[in-house]
Amino acid sequence: MLGVCAYTHDSAAALLVDGALVGFAEEERLVGDKHTKVFPTQAVDWLLRDANLSRADIAAVGYNFQPAGYLRALTDTPTHLVRSATRARAVPRARNVLKVYRRTRARLTMLAQEFPAAQVTPVLHHRAHGLYAFVSSGYDTAAVLVVDSLGETQTTTLAHARHSSTTCDYRVIDQVTDPASLGYAYGAVTEHLGWRRGDEEGTVMALAALGDPGRFADLMARAIPMTEHGFALDPGLFPLRVLSRRFARVSPTFIHATCPTRRPDHPVEQVHADLAAALQQRTEQVMLHLTRRVQRLTGARRLCLSGGVAANCVAVGAIVAEDLFDEVHVPPAPGDSGTAIGAAAAVHLDRGLSRPTGLTAQCYLGPHYPGLELPPHPRPGLAARRPAHAARFLAEQLANGLIVGLFHGRLEAGPRALGNRSILASPLRPDVVDRLNRTVKFREPFRPFAPVVLAEVAPRYFTLPQLAPYMSIASGVTDRARRTIPAIVHTNGTARVQTVTPRQNPFLADVLTEFARLTGVPVLINTSLNVKGKPICGTPDMAVDCLIQSGLDALMIEGWWIIKCESATASGDSSVPVWSTRRMAGAATAGC
Ligand SMILES: [Fe+2]
Repeated sequence: MLGVCAYTHDSAAALLVDGALVGFAEEERLVGDKHTKVFPTQAVDWLLRDANLSRADIAAVGYNFQPAGYLRALTDTPTHLVRSATRARAVPRARNVLKVYRRTRARLTMLAQEFPAAQVTPVLHHRAHGLYAFVSSGYDTAAVLVVDSLGETQTTTLAHARHSSTTCDYRVIDQVTDPASLGYAYGAVTEHLGWRRGDEEGTVMALAALGDPGRFADLMARAIPMTEHGFALDPGLFPLRVLSRRFARVSPTFIHATCPTRRPDHPVEQVHADLAAALQQRTEQVMLHLTRRVQRLTGARRLCLSGGVAANCVAVGAIVAEDLFDEVHVPPAPGDSGTAIGAAAAVHLDRGLSRPTGLTAQCYLGPHYPGLELPPHPRPGLAARRPAHAARFLAEQLANGLIVGLFHGRLEAGPRALGNRSILASPLRPDVVDRLNRTVKFREPFRPFAPVVLAEVAPRYFTLPQLAPYMSIASGVTDRARRTIPAIVHTNGTARVQTVTPRQNPFLADVLTEFARLTGVPVLINTSLNVKGKPICGTPDMAVDCLIQSGLDALMIEGWWIIKCESATASGDSSVPVWSTRRMAGAATAGC
Protein backbone atom coordinates (compact mmCIF):
# COMPACT_ATOMS: atom_id res chain seq x y z
CA MET A 1 0.00 0.00 0.00
CA LEU A 2 1.26 3.39 -0.97
CA GLY A 3 0.52 6.64 0.85
CA VAL A 4 0.89 9.83 -1.11
CA CYS A 5 1.10 13.53 -0.32
CA ALA A 6 1.24 15.37 -3.63
CA TYR A 7 0.21 18.40 -5.69
CA THR A 8 -0.06 20.85 -2.75
CA HIS A 9 3.29 21.19 -0.93
CA ASP A 10 5.80 18.92 0.79
CA SER A 11 5.20 15.99 -1.57
CA ALA A 12 6.11 12.62 -0.11
CA ALA A 13 5.40 8.91 -0.40
CA ALA A 14 5.30 6.02 2.05
CA LEU A 15 5.09 2.29 1.40
CA LEU A 16 3.51 -0.42 3.53
CA VAL A 17 4.36 -4.01 2.59
CA ASP A 18 2.41 -6.73 4.38
CA GLY A 19 1.37 -4.21 7.02
CA ALA A 20 4.88 -2.94 7.73
CA LEU A 21 6.19 0.51 6.84
CA VAL A 22 9.27 -0.17 4.70
CA GLY A 23 10.10 3.39 3.70
CA PHE A 24 9.13 7.03 3.50
CA ALA A 25 10.74 9.86 1.57
CA GLU A 26 10.08 13.53 1.00
CA GLU A 27 10.47 14.42 -2.65
CA GLU A 28 12.21 17.75 -1.96
CA ARG A 29 15.24 15.87 -0.59
CA LEU A 30 15.65 13.95 -3.84
CA VAL A 31 14.98 16.73 -6.37
CA GLY A 32 16.46 19.68 -4.47
CA ASP A 33 13.32 21.84 -4.57
CA LYS A 34 12.14 22.83 -1.09
CA HIS A 35 8.44 22.13 -0.38
CA THR A 36 7.94 20.82 -3.91
CA LYS A 37 4.37 19.99 -4.90
CA VAL A 38 5.14 17.73 -7.85
CA PHE A 39 4.06 14.10 -7.83
CA PRO A 40 6.79 12.35 -5.77
CA THR A 41 8.23 10.34 -8.66
CA GLN A 42 11.70 9.99 -7.16
CA ALA A 43 10.35 8.94 -3.77
CA VAL A 44 7.96 6.38 -5.29
CA ASP A 45 10.63 4.99 -7.63
CA TRP A 46 13.05 4.59 -4.72
CA LEU A 47 10.42 2.94 -2.51
CA LEU A 48 9.51 0.44 -5.21
CA ARG A 49 13.13 -0.26 -6.16
CA ASP A 50 14.11 -0.74 -2.52
CA ALA A 51 11.20 -3.14 -1.94
CA ASN A 52 11.82 -4.93 -5.27
CA LEU A 53 8.32 -4.07 -6.48
CA SER A 54 6.84 -2.39 -9.54
CA ARG A 55 3.94 0.05 -9.92
CA ALA A 56 1.73 -2.88 -10.92
CA ASP A 57 2.32 -4.46 -7.50
CA ILE A 58 0.63 -1.57 -5.67
CA ALA A 59 -2.77 -2.78 -4.52
CA ALA A 60 -3.97 0.38 -2.82
CA VAL A 61 -3.09 4.05 -2.74
CA GLY A 62 -4.11 6.42 0.04
CA TYR A 63 -4.20 10.11 -0.91
CA ASN A 64 -4.13 12.69 1.85
CA PHE A 65 -7.20 14.74 0.86
CA GLN A 66 -10.88 14.00 0.22
CA PRO A 67 -12.28 16.21 -2.57
CA ALA A 68 -15.88 15.81 -1.42
CA GLY A 69 -14.92 17.32 1.92
CA TYR A 70 -14.12 20.67 0.30
CA LEU A 71 -17.72 21.14 -0.79
CA ARG A 72 -18.89 21.42 2.82
CA ALA A 73 -17.26 24.87 2.91
CA LEU A 74 -19.94 26.08 0.47
CA THR A 75 -22.61 25.80 3.15
CA ASP A 76 -21.03 28.81 4.90
CA THR A 77 -21.43 31.04 1.85
CA PRO A 78 -24.82 32.58 2.83
CA THR A 79 -23.42 33.49 6.27
CA HIS A 80 -20.36 35.10 4.67
CA LEU A 81 -22.61 37.04 2.27
CA VAL A 82 -24.64 38.47 5.15
CA ARG A 83 -21.72 39.66 7.29
CA SER A 84 -20.15 42.92 6.18
CA ALA A 85 -16.62 41.78 7.15
CA THR A 86 -16.81 38.72 4.86
CA ARG A 87 -19.20 39.79 2.10
CA ALA A 88 -16.55 40.90 -0.41
CA ARG A 89 -14.81 37.55 -0.34
CA ALA A 90 -17.80 35.22 -0.06
CA VAL A 91 -18.22 34.63 -3.79
CA PRO A 92 -14.49 34.42 -4.65
CA ARG A 93 -14.12 31.95 -1.77
CA ALA A 94 -17.01 29.80 -3.04
CA ARG A 95 -15.53 29.80 -6.56
CA ASN A 96 -12.20 28.88 -5.03
CA VAL A 97 -13.70 25.96 -3.13
CA LEU A 98 -15.27 24.58 -6.32
CA LYS A 99 -11.97 24.96 -8.14
CA VAL A 100 -10.06 23.09 -5.42
CA TYR A 101 -12.74 20.37 -5.39
CA ARG A 102 -12.45 19.82 -9.16
CA ARG A 103 -8.67 19.97 -9.04
CA THR A 104 -8.48 17.36 -6.27
CA ARG A 105 -10.81 15.04 -8.17
CA ALA A 106 -8.53 15.40 -11.20
CA ARG A 107 -5.56 14.50 -9.01
CA LEU A 108 -7.25 11.30 -7.92
CA THR A 109 -7.75 10.45 -11.59
CA MET A 110 -4.04 11.07 -12.21
CA LEU A 111 -3.17 8.80 -9.29
CA ALA A 112 -5.39 6.06 -10.70
CA GLN A 113 -3.55 6.35 -14.01
CA GLU A 114 -0.17 6.12 -12.25
CA PHE A 115 -1.19 2.92 -10.47
CA PRO A 116 -3.67 1.13 -12.72
CA ALA A 117 -3.86 -1.98 -10.54
CA ALA A 118 -4.55 -0.04 -7.36
CA GLN A 119 -7.67 1.16 -5.66
CA VAL A 120 -7.16 4.86 -4.93
CA THR A 121 -8.73 6.05 -1.67
CA PRO A 122 -8.97 9.68 -0.62
CA VAL A 123 -8.32 10.01 3.12
CA LEU A 124 -9.60 12.89 5.23
CA HIS A 125 -6.57 15.14 5.69
CA HIS A 126 -6.73 15.47 9.48
CA ARG A 127 -7.30 11.74 9.87
CA ALA A 128 -4.05 11.16 7.96
CA HIS A 129 -2.24 13.64 10.23
CA GLY A 130 -3.73 12.15 13.40
CA LEU A 131 -3.30 8.48 12.51
CA TYR A 132 0.36 9.04 11.65
CA ALA A 133 0.91 10.74 15.00
CA PHE A 134 -0.88 8.01 16.93
CA VAL A 135 0.50 4.96 15.15
CA SER A 136 4.07 6.32 15.33
CA SER A 137 3.73 7.00 19.06
CA GLY A 138 3.49 3.36 20.12
CA TYR A 139 0.79 4.33 22.64
CA ASP A 140 -2.20 2.04 23.15
CA THR A 141 -4.48 4.97 23.82
CA ALA A 142 -4.00 8.71 23.48
CA ALA A 143 -5.60 12.07 22.95
CA VAL A 144 -4.77 13.43 19.50
CA LEU A 145 -4.68 17.11 18.61
CA VAL A 146 -4.16 18.12 14.98
CA VAL A 147 -3.66 21.81 14.22
CA ASP A 148 -2.72 23.05 10.77
CA SER A 149 -3.71 25.62 8.18
CA LEU A 150 -6.43 23.66 6.38
CA GLY A 151 -7.51 20.13 5.61
CA GLU A 152 -10.67 19.99 3.53
CA THR A 153 -12.61 22.23 5.92
CA GLN A 154 -11.04 21.16 9.22
CA THR A 155 -8.24 23.28 10.65
CA THR A 156 -8.16 21.75 14.13
CA THR A 157 -9.36 18.34 15.29
CA LEU A 158 -9.52 16.82 18.73
CA ALA A 159 -9.59 13.03 18.73
CA HIS A 160 -9.39 9.97 20.95
CA ALA A 161 -7.38 7.06 19.53
CA ARG A 162 -7.25 3.51 20.87
CA HIS A 163 -5.59 0.36 19.70
CA SER A 164 -7.19 -2.98 20.40
CA SER A 165 -5.77 -6.38 19.59
CA THR A 166 -7.51 -6.34 16.22
CA THR A 167 -7.98 -2.76 15.12
CA CYS A 168 -7.51 0.95 15.79
CA ASP A 169 -10.38 3.16 16.85
CA TYR A 170 -9.74 6.79 15.82
CA ARG A 171 -12.64 8.99 16.83
CA VAL A 172 -12.82 12.75 16.24
CA ILE A 173 -14.55 14.38 19.21
CA ASP A 174 -14.54 18.00 18.21
CA GLN A 175 -13.28 20.21 15.44
CA VAL A 176 -12.66 23.78 14.35
CA THR A 177 -13.27 24.55 10.68
CA ASP A 178 -12.12 27.16 8.22
CA PRO A 179 -12.05 30.19 8.34
CA ALA A 180 -10.87 29.78 11.96
CA SER A 181 -7.33 28.52 11.47
CA LEU A 182 -4.28 28.94 13.66
CA GLY A 183 -1.99 27.86 10.84
CA TYR A 184 -3.55 30.45 8.53
CA ALA A 185 -3.06 33.23 11.10
CA TYR A 186 0.56 32.26 11.82
CA GLY A 187 1.32 32.08 8.11
CA ALA A 188 -0.39 35.40 7.44
CA VAL A 189 1.71 37.21 10.05
CA THR A 190 4.87 35.40 8.87
CA GLU A 191 4.26 36.81 5.39
CA HIS A 192 3.43 40.26 6.80
CA LEU A 193 6.76 40.21 8.64
CA GLY A 194 8.66 39.50 5.41
CA TRP A 195 9.29 35.75 5.56
CA ARG A 196 7.95 32.96 3.40
CA ARG A 197 4.60 31.59 4.54
CA GLY A 198 4.63 27.81 4.80
CA ASP A 199 8.40 27.77 5.17
CA GLU A 200 9.81 30.36 7.57
CA GLU A 201 7.33 30.31 10.45
CA GLY A 202 10.21 29.02 12.58
CA THR A 203 12.08 32.27 12.01
CA VAL A 204 9.11 34.21 13.40
CA MET A 205 8.99 31.84 16.37
CA ALA A 206 12.68 32.52 17.05
CA LEU A 207 12.24 36.28 16.60
CA ALA A 208 9.43 36.22 19.17
CA ALA A 209 11.98 35.72 21.95
CA LEU A 210 13.35 39.21 21.27
CA GLY A 211 10.02 40.98 21.43
CA ASP A 212 7.56 42.33 23.98
CA PRO A 213 4.30 40.38 23.56
CA GLY A 214 2.41 43.01 25.55
CA ARG A 215 2.56 45.62 22.80
CA PHE A 216 0.16 43.71 20.51
CA ALA A 217 -1.37 41.28 23.01
CA ASP A 218 -4.81 42.91 22.95
CA LEU A 219 -4.80 43.00 19.16
CA MET A 220 -3.89 39.30 18.90
CA ALA A 221 -6.55 38.40 21.48
CA ARG A 222 -9.10 40.25 19.32
CA ALA A 223 -7.76 38.68 16.14
CA ILE A 224 -7.83 35.12 17.55
CA PRO A 225 -10.54 35.03 20.23
CA MET A 226 -10.89 31.82 22.21
CA THR A 227 -14.24 30.02 22.22
CA GLU A 228 -15.73 27.13 24.13
CA HIS A 229 -14.79 24.70 21.33
CA GLY A 230 -11.46 26.26 20.45
CA PHE A 231 -10.97 29.62 18.77
CA ALA A 232 -12.14 31.89 15.97
CA LEU A 233 -10.51 34.44 13.66
CA ASP A 234 -11.70 38.02 13.36
CA PRO A 235 -12.32 38.46 9.60
CA GLY A 236 -11.74 42.18 10.02
CA LEU A 237 -8.10 41.39 10.85
CA PHE A 238 -7.51 38.05 9.09
CA PRO A 239 -9.79 38.17 6.03
CA LEU A 240 -11.43 35.05 4.61
CA ARG A 241 -9.06 32.64 2.89
CA VAL A 242 -9.09 32.73 -0.91
CA LEU A 243 -6.27 30.73 -2.46
CA SER A 244 -4.85 33.46 -4.65
CA ARG A 245 -2.02 35.96 -4.27
CA ARG A 246 -4.55 38.69 -5.08
CA PHE A 247 -6.26 38.18 -1.72
CA ALA A 248 -4.08 39.38 1.17
CA ARG A 249 -4.20 37.42 4.41
CA VAL A 250 -3.98 40.39 6.77
CA SER A 251 -6.39 43.33 6.45
CA PRO A 252 -5.59 47.05 6.13
CA THR A 253 -6.90 47.35 9.72
CA PHE A 254 -4.30 44.80 10.89
CA ILE A 255 -1.54 46.62 9.01
CA HIS A 256 -2.63 49.98 10.42
CA ALA A 257 -2.62 48.55 13.96
CA THR A 258 0.83 46.94 13.62
CA CYS A 259 3.33 48.03 10.97
CA PRO A 260 3.70 48.23 7.20
CA THR A 261 4.38 44.89 5.55
CA ARG A 262 8.13 44.30 5.80
CA ARG A 263 10.07 43.58 2.64
CA PRO A 264 12.39 40.58 3.00
CA ASP A 265 15.48 42.71 2.32
CA HIS A 266 14.54 45.38 4.86
CA PRO A 267 15.93 45.42 8.38
CA VAL A 268 14.19 43.62 11.22
CA GLU A 269 13.03 46.22 13.75
CA GLN A 270 11.68 46.05 17.28
CA VAL A 271 8.09 46.35 16.08
CA HIS A 272 8.54 43.15 14.07
CA ALA A 273 9.87 41.31 17.12
CA ASP A 274 7.00 42.63 19.24
CA LEU A 275 4.41 41.45 16.73
CA ALA A 276 6.12 38.05 16.48
CA ALA A 277 6.10 37.81 20.28
CA ALA A 278 2.38 38.60 20.50
CA LEU A 279 1.56 36.07 17.78
CA GLN A 280 3.66 33.40 19.47
CA GLN A 281 2.12 34.12 22.87
CA ARG A 282 -1.40 33.89 21.44
CA THR A 283 -0.52 30.67 19.61
CA GLU A 284 0.69 29.14 22.87
CA GLN A 285 -2.44 30.31 24.71
CA VAL A 286 -4.72 28.79 22.07
CA MET A 287 -2.71 25.56 21.90
CA LEU A 288 -2.88 25.22 25.69
CA HIS A 289 -6.63 25.88 25.57
CA LEU A 290 -7.06 23.11 22.97
CA THR A 291 -4.79 20.77 24.92
CA ARG A 292 -6.75 21.20 28.15
CA ARG A 293 -9.95 20.59 26.22
CA VAL A 294 -8.76 17.39 24.53
CA GLN A 295 -7.46 16.13 27.88
CA ARG A 296 -10.82 16.84 29.50
CA LEU A 297 -12.76 15.20 26.67
CA THR A 298 -10.66 12.04 26.47
CA GLY A 299 -9.23 11.62 29.96
CA ALA A 300 -6.12 10.28 28.21
CA ARG A 301 -2.71 10.40 29.88
CA ARG A 302 -0.75 10.72 26.65
CA LEU A 303 -1.03 13.28 23.88
CA CYS A 304 -0.15 13.04 20.19
CA LEU A 305 0.27 16.32 18.32
CA SER A 306 0.35 16.78 14.58
CA GLY A 307 -0.30 19.29 11.79
CA GLY A 308 1.93 22.15 10.76
CA VAL A 309 1.38 24.08 14.00
CA ALA A 310 2.82 21.11 15.92
CA ALA A 311 6.17 22.09 14.40
CA ASN A 312 6.10 25.09 16.73
CA CYS A 313 8.50 23.61 19.29
CA VAL A 314 8.05 26.51 21.72
CA ALA A 315 4.29 25.90 21.90
CA VAL A 316 4.94 22.16 22.31
CA GLY A 317 7.37 22.99 25.11
CA ALA A 318 4.66 25.05 26.81
CA ILE A 319 2.26 22.10 26.52
CA VAL A 320 4.80 19.72 28.07
CA ALA A 321 5.48 22.22 30.87
CA GLU A 322 1.75 22.37 31.64
CA ASP A 323 2.06 18.74 32.83
CA LEU A 324 -1.43 17.73 31.73
CA PHE A 325 -0.09 14.54 30.16
CA ASP A 326 2.48 11.96 31.19
CA GLU A 327 4.08 12.27 27.78
CA VAL A 328 3.67 14.24 24.57
CA HIS A 329 4.51 12.75 21.18
CA VAL A 330 5.12 14.81 18.06
CA PRO A 331 6.04 12.61 15.08
CA PRO A 332 9.19 13.51 13.16
CA ALA A 333 7.15 14.80 10.19
CA PRO A 334 4.13 16.59 11.73
CA GLY A 335 3.56 18.68 8.57
CA ASP A 336 1.85 17.49 5.42
CA SER A 337 4.62 15.16 4.22
CA GLY A 338 3.83 12.89 7.17
CA THR A 339 0.25 12.51 5.94
CA ALA A 340 1.64 10.15 3.29
CA ILE A 341 2.30 7.68 6.12
CA GLY A 342 -1.06 8.48 7.73
CA ALA A 343 -2.93 7.96 4.45
CA ALA A 344 -1.28 4.56 3.95
CA ALA A 345 -2.09 3.63 7.55
CA ALA A 346 -5.73 4.71 7.09
CA VAL A 347 -6.19 2.56 4.00
CA HIS A 348 -4.56 -0.34 5.80
CA LEU A 349 -6.79 -0.01 8.86
CA ASP A 350 -9.93 0.52 6.79
CA ARG A 351 -9.39 -2.96 5.37
CA GLY A 352 -9.85 -4.32 8.86
CA LEU A 353 -6.18 -5.14 9.26
CA SER A 354 -4.35 -4.89 12.56
CA ARG A 355 -2.11 -1.96 13.42
CA PRO A 356 0.67 -1.31 10.91
CA THR A 357 4.18 -2.01 12.12
CA GLY A 358 7.52 -0.36 11.51
CA LEU A 359 6.32 3.12 12.48
CA THR A 360 6.95 3.34 16.20
CA ALA A 361 10.04 5.32 17.15
CA GLN A 362 11.13 5.46 13.51
CA CYS A 363 12.51 8.56 11.86
CA TYR A 364 15.30 7.15 9.65
CA LEU A 365 13.07 5.90 6.86
CA GLY A 366 14.50 7.29 3.62
CA PRO A 367 17.05 6.37 0.97
CA HIS A 368 20.48 5.19 2.02
CA TYR A 369 23.71 4.39 0.24
CA PRO A 370 25.31 1.34 1.81
CA GLY A 371 28.64 0.37 0.29
CA LEU A 372 29.22 3.86 -1.06
CA GLU A 373 32.67 4.20 -2.63
CA LEU A 374 34.34 7.47 -3.56
CA PRO A 375 37.22 8.26 -5.90
CA PRO A 376 40.29 9.97 -4.35
CA HIS A 377 39.14 13.30 -5.77
CA PRO A 378 35.32 13.27 -5.91
CA ARG A 379 35.33 16.71 -7.53
CA PRO A 380 38.08 19.13 -8.56
CA GLY A 381 39.54 20.58 -5.38
CA LEU A 382 38.20 17.86 -3.09
CA ALA A 383 40.01 14.91 -1.54
CA ALA A 384 38.48 11.84 0.06
CA ARG A 385 39.87 9.24 2.43
CA ARG A 386 38.45 6.68 4.80
CA PRO A 387 39.49 7.00 8.46
CA ALA A 388 39.76 3.75 10.43
CA HIS A 389 37.41 4.74 13.27
CA ALA A 390 34.88 7.09 11.72
CA ALA A 391 32.99 8.15 14.87
CA ARG A 392 36.14 8.75 16.91
CA PHE A 393 37.81 10.57 14.03
CA LEU A 394 34.77 12.80 13.53
CA ALA A 395 34.57 13.62 17.25
CA GLU A 396 38.26 14.62 17.23
CA GLN A 397 37.76 16.95 14.29
CA LEU A 398 34.72 18.53 15.95
CA ALA A 399 36.64 19.00 19.20
CA ASN A 400 39.37 20.69 17.13
CA GLY A 401 36.81 23.25 15.95
CA LEU A 402 35.88 21.96 12.52
CA ILE A 403 32.36 22.38 11.14
CA VAL A 404 31.41 19.10 9.50
CA GLY A 405 28.55 17.85 7.36
CA LEU A 406 27.44 14.34 8.26
CA PHE A 407 25.72 12.08 5.72
CA HIS A 408 25.15 8.67 7.26
CA GLY A 409 22.56 5.92 7.01
CA ARG A 410 18.93 6.43 6.02
CA LEU A 411 17.55 9.88 5.32
CA GLU A 412 15.52 11.17 8.24
CA ALA A 413 11.83 12.10 7.97
CA GLY A 414 10.62 15.61 8.67
CA PRO A 415 12.02 19.11 8.79
CA ARG A 416 14.74 18.53 11.40
CA ALA A 417 18.11 16.98 10.64
CA LEU A 418 18.40 14.23 13.23
CA GLY A 419 22.00 13.19 12.75
CA ASN A 420 21.93 11.45 9.38
CA ARG A 421 21.90 14.57 7.18
CA SER A 422 23.27 17.08 9.67
CA ILE A 423 25.92 19.70 10.15
CA LEU A 424 27.69 19.13 13.46
CA ALA A 425 29.87 21.56 15.38
CA SER A 426 31.23 22.05 18.87
CA PRO A 427 29.07 24.23 21.13
CA LEU A 428 32.16 24.97 23.23
CA ARG A 429 33.87 27.27 20.73
CA PRO A 430 32.39 30.76 20.25
CA ASP A 431 34.43 31.17 17.04
CA VAL A 432 32.83 28.04 15.60
CA VAL A 433 29.31 29.29 16.31
CA ASP A 434 30.08 32.66 14.74
CA ARG A 435 31.61 30.99 11.67
CA LEU A 436 28.65 28.63 11.41
CA ASN A 437 26.34 31.62 11.19
CA ARG A 438 28.48 33.73 8.86
CA THR A 439 29.81 31.20 6.37
CA VAL A 440 27.67 28.09 6.49
CA LYS A 441 24.06 28.76 7.41
CA PHE A 442 23.78 32.45 6.43
CA ARG A 443 20.83 32.94 8.69
CA GLU A 444 19.42 35.62 10.93
CA PRO A 445 21.70 36.19 13.93
CA PHE A 446 18.79 35.88 16.38
CA ARG A 447 18.17 32.25 15.40
CA PRO A 448 19.74 29.82 17.86
CA PHE A 449 21.42 26.53 17.00
CA ALA A 450 19.86 23.34 18.26
CA PRO A 451 21.75 20.83 20.39
CA VAL A 452 21.89 17.04 20.29
CA VAL A 453 22.69 15.29 23.55
CA LEU A 454 23.13 11.73 24.77
CA ALA A 455 19.76 10.90 26.31
CA GLU A 456 21.22 9.29 29.43
CA VAL A 457 22.89 12.55 30.51
CA ALA A 458 20.37 15.00 29.08
CA PRO A 459 19.07 16.08 32.56
CA ARG A 460 22.48 17.57 33.33
CA TYR A 461 21.85 20.17 30.64
CA PHE A 462 18.10 20.23 29.91
CA THR A 463 15.05 20.38 32.17
CA LEU A 464 12.66 18.64 29.77
CA PRO A 465 10.89 15.85 31.70
CA GLN A 466 10.78 13.46 28.72
CA LEU A 467 12.84 12.37 25.71
CA ALA A 468 12.83 14.46 22.53
CA PRO A 469 14.16 12.19 19.77
CA TYR A 470 12.81 14.35 16.93
CA MET A 471 13.90 17.81 18.09
CA SER A 472 10.28 18.90 18.39
CA ILE A 473 10.17 20.36 21.92
CA ALA A 474 11.80 23.51 23.29
CA SER A 475 13.29 22.71 26.67
CA GLY A 476 14.49 24.79 29.58
CA VAL A 477 18.21 24.50 30.33
CA THR A 478 20.22 24.01 33.51
CA ASP A 479 22.81 26.35 35.00
CA ARG A 480 25.48 23.99 33.70
CA ALA A 481 24.18 24.43 30.13
CA ARG A 482 24.03 28.21 30.48
CA ARG A 483 27.59 28.21 31.81
CA THR A 484 29.26 25.70 29.48
CA ILE A 485 27.30 25.74 26.21
CA PRO A 486 25.55 29.13 25.91
CA ALA A 487 25.68 28.86 22.12
CA ILE A 488 22.69 26.51 22.10
CA VAL A 489 20.56 28.55 24.51
CA HIS A 490 18.07 30.92 22.91
CA THR A 491 17.32 34.41 24.24
CA ASN A 492 14.22 33.06 25.99
CA GLY A 493 16.33 30.52 27.90
CA THR A 494 15.26 27.45 25.90
CA ALA A 495 16.88 25.01 23.52
CA ARG A 496 15.28 22.83 20.83
CA VAL A 497 17.01 19.71 21.98
CA GLN A 498 17.35 16.30 20.34
CA THR A 499 17.99 13.43 22.73
CA VAL A 500 19.70 10.42 21.21
CA THR A 501 20.21 6.87 22.39
CA PRO A 502 22.56 4.21 20.96
CA ARG A 503 19.50 2.26 19.90
CA GLN A 504 18.00 5.20 18.02
CA ASN A 505 21.17 6.24 16.22
CA PRO A 506 24.29 4.21 17.12
CA PHE A 507 26.72 6.24 15.01
CA LEU A 508 25.59 9.62 16.35
CA ALA A 509 25.62 8.25 19.90
CA ASP A 510 29.21 7.06 19.32
CA VAL A 511 30.23 10.50 18.06
CA LEU A 512 28.69 12.15 21.15
CA THR A 513 30.38 9.63 23.46
CA GLU A 514 33.77 10.25 21.86
CA PHE A 515 33.22 14.02 21.91
CA ALA A 516 32.38 13.81 25.63
CA ARG A 517 35.54 11.78 26.23
CA LEU A 518 37.60 14.52 24.62
CA THR A 519 35.83 17.59 26.01
CA GLY A 520 33.74 16.46 28.98
CA VAL A 521 30.54 17.61 27.24
CA PRO A 522 28.15 15.14 25.52
CA VAL A 523 26.47 17.86 23.47
CA LEU A 524 26.95 18.97 19.87
CA ILE A 525 25.35 21.60 17.72
CA ASN A 526 23.12 19.81 15.19
CA THR A 527 21.76 21.79 12.28
CA SER A 528 20.51 20.66 8.90
CA LEU A 529 22.83 19.75 6.03
CA ASN A 530 21.73 22.23 3.41
CA VAL A 531 22.54 25.60 1.97
CA LYS A 532 20.17 28.53 2.47
CA GLY A 533 16.93 28.16 0.56
CA LYS A 534 17.56 24.50 -0.33
CA PRO A 535 16.11 21.39 1.31
CA ILE A 536 18.15 19.01 3.44
CA CYS A 537 20.57 17.09 1.20
CA GLY A 538 19.05 13.75 0.27
CA THR A 539 21.74 12.40 -2.04
CA PRO A 540 25.55 12.17 -1.84
CA ASP A 541 25.88 14.59 -4.76
CA MET A 542 23.76 17.20 -2.98
CA ALA A 543 25.91 16.78 0.13
CA VAL A 544 29.12 17.31 -1.86
CA ASP A 545 27.59 20.38 -3.51
CA CYS A 546 26.76 21.66 -0.02
CA LEU A 547 30.40 21.20 1.06
CA ILE A 548 31.60 23.16 -1.95
CA GLN A 549 29.02 25.94 -1.80
CA SER A 550 29.28 26.66 1.91
CA GLY A 551 31.91 27.32 4.55
CA LEU A 552 31.80 23.72 5.75
CA ASP A 553 35.28 22.48 6.65
CA ALA A 554 34.62 18.86 5.78
CA LEU A 555 32.00 16.28 4.98
CA MET A 556 31.78 12.77 6.40
CA ILE A 557 29.73 10.68 4.04
CA GLU A 558 29.16 7.02 4.84
CA GLY A 559 32.50 6.88 6.64
CA TRP A 560 34.39 8.81 3.93
CA TRP A 561 36.12 12.02 4.98
CA ILE A 562 36.03 14.71 2.29
CA ILE A 563 37.91 17.97 2.57
CA LYS A 564 38.62 20.93 0.35
CA CYS A 565 42.28 21.16 -0.60
CA GLU A 566 42.01 23.96 -3.14
CA SER A 567 39.29 26.08 -4.68
CA ALA A 568 36.61 23.48 -5.26
CA THR A 569 33.92 23.75 -7.89
CA ALA A 570 30.36 22.58 -7.77
CA SER A 571 30.26 21.93 -11.49
CA GLY A 572 32.81 19.16 -12.01
CA ASP A 573 31.55 16.71 -14.60
CA SER A 574 27.83 16.82 -13.95
CA SER A 575 27.22 13.76 -16.13
CA VAL A 576 29.09 11.56 -13.66
CA PRO A 577 27.79 11.18 -10.08
CA VAL A 578 30.33 11.85 -7.40
CA TRP A 579 29.74 8.45 -5.87
CA SER A 580 29.50 4.87 -6.96
CA THR A 581 29.05 1.55 -5.24
CA ARG A 582 32.11 0.12 -7.02
CA ARG A 583 35.32 0.13 -5.00
CA MET A 584 37.91 2.35 -6.63
CA ALA A 585 41.62 1.58 -6.24
CA GLY A 586 43.52 3.87 -3.90
CA ALA A 587 40.41 5.55 -2.54
CA ALA A 588 41.15 4.62 1.05
CA THR A 589 44.50 6.41 1.07
CA ALA A 590 43.68 9.50 -0.92
CA GLY A 591 44.28 12.94 0.51
CA CYS A 592 45.50 16.41 -0.39
FE1 LIG B 1 -2.01 19.61 6.99
